[in-house]
Amino acid sequence: MQDFILQNKTKVYFGKDQLGHLGEEISLFGKKVLLIYGGGSIKKLGLYDKVMKELDKAGMTVFELSGVEPNPHHTTVNKGAAICKKESIDVLLAVGGGSTIDATKGIAAAARYEGDDVWDLVTGKASVNETLPIVTVLTLAATGSEMDGGCVISNVETNEKFGYFGPDNNPDVSFLDPTNTFTVSAYQTASGSADIMSHVFDVAYFSKQDEMDMLLRMQEEVLKTVVKYAPKAIKMPDDYEARANLMWASSWALNGFLYDTIFLCYPNWWNTLPMPVLGFIEHYDWNGKHIIPVNTSEGSGAGKSVAKIRKVCSGATVDEAYELKGSEVDSKISQIESWAKGKV
Ligand SMILES: Cc1cc2nc3c(=O)[nH]c(=O)nc-3n(C[C@H](O)[C@H](O)[C@H](O)COP(=O)(O)O)c2cc1C
Repeated sequence: MQDFILQNKTKVYFGKDQLGHLGEEISLFGKKVLLIYGGGSIKKLGLYDKVMKELDKAGMTVFELSGVEPNPHHTTVNKGAAICKKESIDVLLAVGGGSTIDATKGIAAAARYEGDDVWDLVTGKASVNETLPIVTVLTLAATGSEMDGGCVISNVETNEKFGYFGPDNNPDVSFLDPTNTFTVSAYQTASGSADIMSHVFDVAYFSKQDEMDMLLRMQEEVLKTVVKYAPKAIKMPDDYEARANLMWASSWALNGFLYDTIFLCYPNWWNTLPMPVLGFIEHYDWNGKHIIPVNTSEGSGAGKSVAKIRKVCSGATVDEAYELKGSEVDSKISQIESWAKGKV
């Protein structure tokens, strides 16, 4: 097993009778809250009223940003950050699924940026040293954003979509109530379940992890949980145990507890990382992880790719690349295997 650092600050209130703790938790950060949500389904659910009641009991002054779209737009994030600056907001409250929480993470960082465009932060042109505190009330089991430090923001003007990790951008507190997912449609339940499984596959299960039995078994349990409970939730949308298991699996798939060493294998394109690989690594929080780059090229070696990985995957330990000639890989399989075994 490799050395690693593990930290996940999100305090989780899990279950159907936990929202009563919202007021006491959120008021620890101050009195002015920006409530952020999507298209209004939380009003139909009755969740908006319940949240407002708790905020009112805690004596919070509430400002609102509604209309966060799926694949949240940078312009919406900018709107939220402008409210935070104008009203001196103390804490953000996201009520919704992954898009709402992702937009909230962008707002948390942009509110602390002296410029007025979060896209500067997302593209790495500027950075911030701190973010606003975040509390979430989750309504969809899928992205894992309720317990990780990353978000994905879209720029519809340039047709770009990038991952972003603000400093310390994990939610401070997340309320995970499975009953809030009873109304999620069969299609969205299936999509969310596929999302959870892809997170385990993407960053964890297919990494080479000999002698990492504990993590492998945990990853398999998350996958088995989804295989068992997704069909049940689709058939019986108000099956509490099914919804509860999916919700907790969603958080675990991406909270950083399931993986630590990643072999990142990619070809050299124009002396650096191919764009699709760059897009992939920008999506995840690599803090405390150990990345071993494995590169194929037709002569240039890894080029500038390792420097790029180090820049994007801040907080990770990134080894020098294991360099291979692409056309020679097939004849060197056993050599590559013994090199990989020596690394884990
Ligand atoms: C768009 C593109 C750009 C490439 N640029 C380089 C390069 O700058 N230097 C180099 O040695 N090989 C370059 N290559 C060759 C790839 O690195 C080589 O094809 C790869 O390592 C083998 O993997 P593959 O079988 O997936 O193509 C390039 C290939 C492509 C498709």
